[in-house]
Amino acid sequence: MQPISRRNALLLGGLGVAGTVAGGAGLLWTLTSRPAPVTGGELTQPPDLRSEGGRLDVRLDAGPGRIPLAGLQALALAYNGGIPGPTLRLRPGDVLNVRLVNNLDRPTNLHMHGLHVSPQGNGDNVFVTVDPGSTFDYEHRLPAEHPPGVYWYHPHRHGMVADQIFAGLFGAIIVEDPQPVAASRERVLLVSDITLDGLGNIPPVSAMERMMGRQGELILVNGQSNPQVSVRPGERERWRIVNACVSRYLRLRLDGQQLQLLGLDSGRFQKPVDVEELLLTPGNRADLLVTTAAGDSVLRATYYDRGTMPGMMGNGGSGGPRPEDPNRATLATLHVAGEPVEPLNALAARAEPYDLRSSPAAAHRQLTLGTGMGMMRFTINGREFNEARTDTTVAAGSVEEWTLVNTSPMDHPFHLHVWPMQLIEENGQLLDSVVRLDVVNVPSNGQVKVRVAFEDFRGRSVYHCHILDHEDQGMMGVIEVR
Ligand code: C2O
Ligand code: CU
Ligand code: CU
Repeated sequence: MQPISRRNALLLGGLGVAGTVAGGAGLLWTLTSRPAPVTGGELTQPPDLRSEGGRLDVRLDAGPGRIPLAGLQALALAYNGGIPGPTLRLRPGDVLNVRLVNNLDRPTNLHMHGLHVSPQGNGDNVFVTVDPGSTFDYEHRLPAEHPPGVYWYHPHRHGMVADQIFAGLFGAIIVEDPQPVAASRERVLLVSDITLDGLGNIPPVSAMERMMGRQGELILVNGQSNPQVSVRPGERERWRIVNACVSRYLRLRLDGQQLQLLGLDSGRFQKPVDVEELLLTPGNRADLLVTTAAGDSVLRATYYDRGTMPGMMGNGGSGGPRPEDPNRATLATLHVAGEPVEPLNALAARAEPYDLRSSPAAAHRQLTLGTGMGMMRFTINGREFNEARTDTTVAAGSVEEWTLVNTSPMDHPFHLHVWPMQLIEENGQLLDSVVRLDVVNVPSNGQVKVRVAFEDFRGRSVYHCHILDHEDQGMMGVIEVR
């Protein structure tokens, strides 16, 4: 038997398991190594909460617990005890009432990412703080013409956003199509990442990880590691994919299958667009049709280089799994077998999306995303977030053109609340179609132009980098529309 070193004896004693150390090495190994995730199993769906008669009343309890993740018992945070939280299914024109109960030991709040709703009062107001042990009642009124699509909810208490989402606080929102899209079935795929130690705890995050934007070692879909989706050939699956990772870019592929994109974020294409690959920055969503062909296909995230900070060593800058690590890239496996089904009819085209390039821009602005002064500062126009200061004031009802400039050596996904952005130009290249997003990637040392129609709502809200470690460190500004 190996003698137990004093340090390890202390460690084990502290954990109350010193008496079981007879076979020492194995136990030490489990205590110091990462647990192996349990992979496979059919993809599960979070519970659906569906509006009725124009309203949905939900209660979301945010709290810690032992939560099943990747077949392990993680000490994580969850809404109503599950990761992801329930899926909220709404229709345009609905009222959504959410009672948020804070059972955490920190303040939190709740943001409805991408919804076009009021940012004021008990609306989608990120300046609200819900203290531990208290409750807050939100009310969201969706306009009658609210765009259908995939949205999501997550905490937005400045300084704690990355920690709370990384630990499991997120869920999907679906705004149903007024005219249904014919599909064999529909699934929600919330992609998240997390790191767990041998005891199921989330290890502390280093200053370096915060700077780069933390990336978890496990990539999960609905809290599962490489779940399986089993269908027959010829089916048309509708996948609502959310990138709920704090910092990880997802460059997705599903080789061997036909992929058609209905839309990204709240944007919708006139006709479904054939795609082979899909880049979702943190916060982005895809509404994807998968027409299945017999065989096994792997949904993978391939390597995406989102840059690094100067003087930084190693692989910290990787925005995706390393190319030499195929396991980490596997999100799910599509298993297509059996009798082919009757093909569904082709989808009808939609109305042409409104193009903001035909509206005069009332103002042109530049917002510069920077990592200033010895790279510890994350700023917009040279300033860190200050909730008391209004950085940008916009006239209600106007259309503006914003140039988003990135002077840093890493990409930043820029997110604006309430009002979606139409992407006009990317590094000098004009777009030839209408792409409406609420998170736009601003490439390292590059720039993009967007146009925004500040319609329907007034009030104070925010824009920020959706690498939420950067947001928490100050890469956020306040906008007031009045
Ligand atoms: Cu997804 Cu301001 O957030
Ligand atoms: Cu948001
Ligand atoms: Cu950033």
